[in-house]
Amino acid sequence: MMYDNDIELGRNDVCWCGSGLKYKKCHMDFDAKLQRLAQSGEEVPARALLKTPEEIEGIKRSAEVNVGALDYVAERIREGISTEEINTWVHTYTVEHGAIPAPLDFEGYPKSVCTSVNEVVCHGIPSADEVLASGDIVNIDCSTEKDGFFSDSSRMFCIGDVSPEARDLVRVTKEAVQAGLDAVRPWGHLGDIGAAVNAYAKDHGYTVVREFGGHGIGIEFHEEPFVSFVTKPNTGCVLVPGLCFTIEPMINLGKRHIDTSDPNGWTVRTKDRKLTAQWEVQLVITDEGYELLSW
Ligand code: MF3
Ligand code: CO
Repeated sequence: MMYDNDIELGRNDVCWCGSGLKYKKCHMDFDAKLQRLAQSGEEVPARALLKTPEEIEGIKRSAEVNVGALDYVAERIREGISTEEINTWVHTYTVEHGAIPAPLDFEGYPKSVCTSVNEVVCHGIPSADEVLASGDIVNIDCSTEKDGFFSDSSRMFCIGDVSPEARDLVRVTKEAVQAGLDAVRPWGHLGDIGAAVNAYAKDHGYTVVREFGGHGIGIEFHEEPFVSFVTKPNTGCVLVPGLCFTIEPMINLGKRHIDTSDPNGWTVRTKDRKLTAQWEVQLVITDEGYELLSW
């Protein structure tokens, strides 16, 4: 029996990865390594979470639409645009590219994209009543399902004349994601990423939201593992090649605490109503490091 409760393949069986090769010529040694790590007490992701080359190709086709939708928004977003218009852009772009906006009807979410303005931490719902004004900072979070494969990324946009304080928060949050990426080592630990993000944010006097984080993704919108950005190095699951997940820290100008009391059940705000920012990328761990899939 394998560590993930799967049955062990025979040497001459066809490998699970879709290569068509015999197990002994393909992932047999790899699986033995996973088994050893699990037995030594490491948290090892179930093999079902590791994406095969074919699955990664599918996720890339999904991500192509997701990145395209965000690029489309980037070219048009400005003062005077409502978040409802952004929703229409993303919805139309996605559908016209043969894909489905993953947020729509996800656990009852009513729109095709999340638009989180200023003190909104995440899951802001687009509305015709919400018109972007000069000085706003806004996160546009796009997620796409194409042919059964999922992609997810988000970007911040500064509208018109933005205060230096807000601009710094947006920039540092993007840099924090890069610090997280720089901490990725194949066969390292997931906690290394959160530790790097947290240290970077803290160094700039900001705080990191604990209640929400990144997630595995690919065959489903949200898979294991949960990706926290308040972790210690050398903790959490092993970064096994094939593991696909997001890095998406929410970083606050003021205190870390959030307010989830909005009656719509979605919109999350900072408790102190100070500004917050988030950038999100999706990556897959490779033998050499990582490959960015969506941004
Ligand atoms: N895109 C968000 C994430 O990064 C999830 C949004 S769920 C939704 O995980 F229903 F609000 F869209
Ligand atoms: Co996400």
